[in-house]
Amino acid sequence: MLLEVKDLHVYYYTKRGVVRAVEGVSFQLDHAEIMGIVGESGSGKSTLGLAIMNLVPSPGRIVKGSIRLEGKDLTKMSEKELRKVRGKEVAMVFQDPMTSLDPLMRIGDQIVETILAHEDLSKEEARKRALELLEEVGISKDRFNDYPHQLSGGMRQRVMIAMAVSLNPKLIIADEPTTALDVIVQDQIMELFSKLRDEFGVAIILISHDLALELEVSDKIGVMYAGWLVELSSSGELAENPLNPYTRELLKAIPNVELEEQKLVSIPGSPPDLHDPPHGCRFHPRCPDAMQVCYREEPPTKVVDGRLVKCWLYGR
Ligand SMILES: Nc1ncnc2c1ncn2[C@@H]1O[C@H](COP(=O)(O)OP(=O)(O)OP(=O)(O)O)[C@@H](O)[C@H]1O
Ligand SMILES: [Mg+2]
Repeated sequence: MLLEVKDLHVYYYTKRGVVRAVEGVSFQLDHAEIMGIVGESGSGKSTLGLAIMNLVPSPGRIVKGSIRLEGKDLTKMSEKELRKVRGKEVAMVFQDPMTSLDPLMRIGDQIVETILAHEDLSKEEARKRALELLEEVGISKDRFNDYPHQLSGGMRQRVMIAMAVSLNPKLIIADEPTTALDVIVQDQIMELFSKLRDEFGVAIILISHDLALELEVSDKIGVMYAGWLVELSSSGELAENPLNPYTRELLKAIPNVELEEQKLVSIPGSPPDLHDPPHGCRFHPRCPDAMQVCYREEPPTKVVDGRLVKCWLYGR
């Protein structure tokens, strides 16, 4: 097992009160596995991703739980130990490459610099590796001397992915990596992630609000609602037979290209304010299956056929 997250709680301590952004989240990830994390805006996806690198920004804090990477608990590491883990063992890719790339530096040099910051290589060796990486992510070698603004959005994201894999991490956390890109480029980047997993055995956590996209590449998918992990299933089982009513609603909201008349379904209502989430199950105000108990008590997380589901439909 590569990663084991157990009972993770991440809160933001704001002037308005405590935001319970991630609560009681547990899951495991194997080497070379691709896991999607899906959920509406504000459900805690990015907070979870940052927590895995122990990078939750202030006023946020991991208040409970453990994050074990090959057995070592990241929540217990010193800043110095964490710096070694970040980049080298776990790398992150964000939505907007422009904010992470230096606009005044050639893309090839940026990759070289990342490599040299962590590995004991000569400049020439690092340059050779950077050229290989560009090719690996589908960018022609003669783009080495381009500046970021000379590339398309999709190519810039490929550069970020090249930087992420440059240190041979075991895990890449990609937070909405294709949200700003058009559909065709999105698919190409998903294919690139699959290829990197196959070739390097890197595990990937793919964070997105787009369930259809996640179904394309993920082995399994974690569904978040208002800070809770409400379902964790293999992609096939999730699409075929969703356990949680919320997952079912998310699936209904996927546009069906085969239907001529496009009926746009969105889930009625909106996600709760996490300063003051609803009592009982946080989804009960929007849930078509809500029962009495859902108003009163938090549902337990149950294992059903090897899948996880947090919902009163599955009993105590
Ligand atoms: N720096 C912060 N300070 C205070 N609250 C925060 C901070 N960052 C996030 N939150 C709150 O934590 C909750 C989870 O936010 P998070 O960004 O993790 O959600 P998300 O699922 O990534 O949403 P999105 O799809 O919009 O990116 C939200 O209620 C958000 O308002
Ligand atoms: Mg986010």
